[in-house]
Amino acid sequence: MTAPFERLLQPGSLGPLELRNRIALCPMGVNLGEPDGTAGDDLVAWFHARARGGAGLILVGSASVSYPDGSYDARQVALSDDRFIPGLRRLTDAVRAQGAASAAQLVHDGANSLFDISRGQPLLVPSKRRPPPNDELSLMLTPDELADTMAPFASPSAAYSVRVATDADLEAVVTAFAGAAARAVEAGFDAIEIHAGHGYLIDAFLSPQTNRRDDGWGGDATARATLLVEVVRAVRAAVGAGVAVWARIGAEERHRDPGQTVDDALTAARIAVAAGLDAVHVTSYAEPMVATGITDGHTPHVPGALLPFAARFRAELGMPVIAMGRLTPEAAEAALADGAADVIAMGRPLIADPDLPRKLAAGRRDTVRPCAYQYRCIGAIFRNQVVRCTVNADVGHEAAATESSAPPRSVLVVGGGPAGLEAARRLAERGHTVELWEASDRLGGTLRLAELADPDLLGLADWLAGAAVDAGVRVRFGVVDQEPPVDLDVVVDATGGRWDAVDGAVGPGDLEPFLRGDEGVLGPVVDVVGSSKAALSIARAVRARGRVVRL
Ligand SMILES: Cc1cc2nc3c(=O)[nH]c(=O)nc-3n(C[C@H](O)[C@H](O)[C@H](O)COP(=O)(O)O)c2cc1C
Ligand code: SF4
Repeated sequence: MTAPFERLLQPGSLGPLELRNRIALCPMGVNLGEPDGTAGDDLVAWFHARARGGAGLILVGSASVSYPDGSYDARQVALSDDRFIPGLRRLTDAVRAQGAASAAQLVHDGANSLFDISRGQPLLVPSKRRPPPNDELSLMLTPDELADTMAPFASPSAAYSVRVATDADLEAVVTAFAGAAARAVEAGFDAIEIHAGHGYLIDAFLSPQTNRRDDGWGGDATARATLLVEVVRAVRAAVGAGVAVWARIGAEERHRDPGQTVDDALTAARIAVAAGLDAVHVTSYAEPMVATGITDGHTPHVPGALLPFAARFRAELGMPVIAMGRLTPEAAEAALADGAADVIAMGRPLIADPDLPRKLAAGRRDTVRPCAYQYRCIGAIFRNQVVRCTVNADVGHEAAATESSAPPRSVLVVGGGPAGLEAARRLAERGHTVELWEASDRLGGTLRLAELADPDLLGLADWLAGAAVDAGVRVRFGVVDQEPPVDLDVVVDATGGRWDAVDGAVGPGDLEPFLRGDEGVLGPVVDVVGSSKAALSIARAVRARGRVVRL
């Protein structure tokens, strides 16, 4: 019998880069850089926490090669000038001190350079745009979300214009990638990832949707890969053979016609490998104006959606492959066993629980905090905000997380829902003596109902309950109308999760049996009042049980 996660925890390699295990942190732009693009305490602490958590490779996402041009946000990581080196050197030192390797993901954001728009600079594109598709995305946003997302367009200097790249522009881009790669190595990075996906500049050249040139930078799949190949050659020349270089390449482009096909992507990958890559990181892209564009592309909602592509790339290219896309540790282990990948990158799982690799190594899979796939993290980035997480309140605050110096207190937490469990665990972890009173006979509160309506939440209530007990919280069930003892230092009232009563409407007491299978509770037509996430999840769950739903 093999030990659980044996392959995942085994040392691995990508070209000349040796890794302590096969778990990589996905490249993620988290908006934790300083407003001038340098790396400060917040960014260093974010990556340090994930290296300390045991990942073998820390990928630093979206380092702009031509900052402030070709960038998404002022707080993006940048490698366009030597002034960015000292901050990034602190970052790579912090990662290395925890035993992990680091790689810089180099990007020119092309038509997604919102920072260019806010500064009134033209967006660099391969060709003039085709007429835009229906904008389903904006229709789904609340007014606040829309205002945040569109903020770059509202800056006083904002202007939207595009510049079709000239030969000279593209030579400058290639030079910028090479310069950024050399600076990355000087800053202590062990490897380079060239971002050739997600609609950014190199990908825009790979795509027949956005590249309609016939001048050598465009044409068939081979010609459209010219920019990628030139960048690979220049980066390889800049860093030499001793530094691992790979590219993140989209296997397909969904919801676009024409769009890049898997065969196109394999053609591009093949010639990019011949130009000097050590590995390929397989991703995907989908038209972002389509409602499911993000979750049908690089941040999939369907578990393991991108694994078949990774397996095909690995088989056809005969190269090491990094695979990713909503993979549990079990799915990741199986992917390695099946030969679908050499290294597994995890994004959301390591936002939700940076200590996942360390917990697997310690045989404590049961203590890994599950990602609930609610998209607060990437949603924050689209809103030009700092990264946040639904299940991990420390996310984005890593630099501030310190041990408590307060004297131990005696604390009573009233209410065993998610807020009470979170408060109780945190207080117990900080050395306080914590008792939790719950009126019912189970922990989890309204989260138990929520997980019936939205199965992506499954596991979170159990985790909160288990982690509180592990931290030493004493739980008493069935406590109703009881006065707290007088010798307590602090009482936390966490009885807040209540259902607003609407005349004639069913309450949670009826809905829960229905969602558990008691068909008698609801008639054939159901009105759901509200448009919150909870209302939408309930509407979907009720619809799935054959009811006509009016929202
Ligand atoms: C907050 C956030 C930021 C991201 N930023 C980047 C990025 O800068 N570059 C990139 O290539 N992918 C980015 N992605 C996509 C991830 O690298 C990855 O493809 C995605 O999260 C799917 O992996 P997962 O299922 O393990 O989360 C981002 C994803 C998230 C959640
Ligand atoms: S729980 Fe939500 S916010 Fe946190 S990592 Fe998962 S998808 Fe992102």
